[in-house]
Amino acid sequence: MINILCVGDVCGSAGVDIISRKLRRAAVKHSADFVIVNGENADQTGIKPPKAYDIFDAGADVITLGNHAFAKTDIFEMLDSDSRILRPENFGKGHPGKGVGIYSVGGFRLAVVSLVGRINMSFLCENPFFAADRILEGLEGRADGVVFDFHAEATSEKIAFGRYVAGRASAVFGTHTHVQTNDASVIDGTGYITDIGMTGAEDSVIGISVATATEAFLSDGVVKRYKCAYGDGRLCGVLITLDQKGRTTAIKTVRE
Ligand SMILES: [Fe+2]
Ligand SMILES: [Fe+2]
Repeated sequence: MINILCVGDVCGSAGVDIISRKLRRAAVKHSADFVIVNGENADQTGIKPPKAYDIFDAGADVITLGNHAFAKTDIFEMLDSDSRILRPENFGKGHPGKGVGIYSVGGFRLAVVSLVGRINMSFLCENPFFAADRILEGLEGRADGVVFDFHAEATSEKIAFGRYVAGRASAVFGTHTHVQTNDASVIDGTGYITDIGMTGAEDSVIGISVATATEAFLSDGVVKRYKCAYGDGRLCGVLITLDQKGRTTAIKTVRE
């Protein structure tokens, strides 16, 4: 039995502070053997090395990213040199880093995959469904379990993706929309949840200060002076339990 704690988008200094105070306790409380943290908003849009090291120091085994993976160029070298940080694999080969990592969890070979969706995103990337086919085929015989962080905007794309890899992947957890959903389930041995929620200031609009988020809406989207919100908040995520065959036996949401 392997317990994997997956923690949702860490937002700004507030999110990193929450992770630093709460992650180790949460990992012990939930008997986590492995911890995955989505860090793509640690520096609001993207992440720089100091915040990445803070998240590792807080107890993360792997950091996954998302649509903002390349927003901070300071991270490029680390993406190439540190196998514990993953950017979406379907951004393609022309970019720094990679999106698939295989890690030993007490001898169990756990593959973690970062993928990004395409609906309502402002870039071109490989179709994540075909990318998943390719990745799963490539991992055959090399991994005992495969967990996807599917970083996407549309609930429909996330649910369709979960169904698409059901029976082939260990689990799919959604990130990016920052609000934890109430649909954790197991389909053909594949754990699934549309979004695991964010880790950031409670008094915010999905991690952004209420004032700057509201200003953007009042200006019809013309003025965007987004700033991460400060203050305490919850660590949000999901706990996924796998058997030795890499099938999910239980999945439950976490809010600390
Ligand atoms: Fe995102
Ligand atoms: Fe995010």
